[in-house]
Amino acid sequence: MNVDQEGAARDDVAVAATAAERPPAAIRGHRLGGADGGDRHGAGGQAAGRHHCHRADLAAPGDQIGRRATLGKRPDALPAGLLVAAVERLLDRLRVNHLSRAHRWPVYAPRRRRDGGKWDTAGMSEQLSAQGPRIESDVFAKARNHDRREILELAEKADMMPYFRLLTSAAGPVVEMEGRETIMLGSNNYLGLTGDPRVKAAARDALDTYGTALTGSRLLNGTIPLHLELEEELADWMGTEAALVFTTGYQANVGCIGTILQPGDTVICDSGDHASILDGCRLSGAKLRPFRHNRMDKLERMLERAAGDGGGVLVVVDGVFSMEGDICPLTEVVALCERYGARLMVDEAHGVGALGARGAGASELLGVEESVDLRMGTFSKSFASCGGFIAGPAEVIDYLRIAARSFLFSAAAVPAAVGAALGALRIIREEGPELIGRLLDNAAYLHAGLTGLGLRVVAPTMLPGGGEALTPIVPVIVGEDVRAAMLWKALYEDGLYTNVALHPAVPPAGALLRTSLMATHEREHLDRALASFERVIDHSPELFTG
Ligand SMILES: Cc1ncc(COP(=O)(O)O)c(C=O)c1O
Repeated sequence: MNVDQEGAARDDVAVAATAAERPPAAIRGHRLGGADGGDRHGAGGQAAGRHHCHRADLAAPGDQIGRRATLGKRPDALPAGLLVAAVERLLDRLRVNHLSRAHRWPVYAPRRRRDGGKWDTAGMSEQLSAQGPRIESDVFAKARNHDRREILELAEKADMMPYFRLLTSAAGPVVEMEGRETIMLGSNNYLGLTGDPRVKAAARDALDTYGTALTGSRLLNGTIPLHLELEEELADWMGTEAALVFTTGYQANVGCIGTILQPGDTVICDSGDHASILDGCRLSGAKLRPFRHNRMDKLERMLERAAGDGGGVLVVVDGVFSMEGDICPLTEVVALCERYGARLMVDEAHGVGALGARGAGASELLGVEESVDLRMGTFSKSFASCGGFIAGPAEVIDYLRIAARSFLFSAAAVPAAVGAALGALRIIREEGPELIGRLLDNAAYLHAGLTGLGLRVVAPTMLPGGGEALTPIVPVIVGEDVRAAMLWKALYEDGLYTNVALHPAVPPAGALLRTSLMATHEREHLDRALASFERVIDHSPELFTG
């Protein structure tokens, strides 16, 4: 039984216990008349009706026993048949009340056959259906009728499905996909550390020491010394008081945002923020005020409105937007948050290990680390592992440690993942500048090459002090979903893997091919990729126009 199930069981016990302390609904209904029978809750209403029937059933024998007692006769003076009937009815009532209290919904009451034989269950389904309305809507219907089903089936038939393709080798600049050598421009292995012997050794050591899994949450039995070392080193590297490691980056966002905010608060998000941010906002119950991607005038308007909402306000943005690869104008975001008194959280999933002199992300690159209240990072990209973290003030981190449900009620990452993340962090701290230099050189080379082919490539971000910055993500904007899928397929056939981003991952008619770089791509790999694009442009120019 997991903790949630225990919680649910405890709830039932509590409800049953309070129900037992109160008179049954029928009796309350009897005393209070129609008002209580018209219970506000549907299930309660049914229960009141049900008990009402039993009360009518029980009235006769109960009255008889009572009357005879007041007449001063001993119960054993009752005729035997009448006594048996009364006891049976009493038992019936007890059984039905017990079950109905425990389950709080209509319960089938089997009847004893008139001849005193076995319980009669034949009328069970009629009794049940007579007790309540039938549910006509099927929650599985959406699996059959969703609006993308047709297009997905067509894409699969035409072998044009860009998703769930099989990687049949280790992730690297050149991979084997579905048995064929393919240039990989669709990975988040930005520093190329997934194959680094030191990271592999760190994962192997953790596996050898702690086994394959921790089989429990960090709270109970899943915290190992590697977690504590990792948290300490992350905080030191990020320059924050503390850090907390989650099993995935998704859980870090959902757990942090869903815990820090509560109904009555307001959260303001960029429309390009990652899904995990949105899910955390929804979970929190806070008022959500989204603003158009990177539009500081819209952010300001939302801050103005939020100031009147009455609760605390958190602004959450991606440091690097995961699809378009552009950098958030954090200098302006910080200034606005400070002016209005809002807290700021930055998702650095694509920034850590990719931007800034230490590799600490967009906040570092833009010189605003001190002004960002919370920074989230993931191990699933530059850190060559799986997991995520929140870095920030110790009081907040300590609170998340005891209150974030995605942290408390999910198993800790496998030791090999924690070991690999720690191994990668140590390499990034030592060699980050050099690795990141190579990564961003590669991004610049590919960006220039794709632009040179006449493609619409997302422009570098202009920095506040002049100059421009690229990220490891270099997307080619295509427009229509279908053209993007066809283009993807043509490149894939040519031995180049890219990612396709379709609406709703990007705005409508904003479909793009998302290419991403690694520090370990050689120029030869990138030239081969550019040659693929060139061949596809020559062969199918119509895919690039319109
Ligand atoms: C911006 C952003 N935030 C959060 C996440 C979630 O991280 P993880 O993959 O570690 O769950 C991702 C992953 O794709 C991301 O791109």
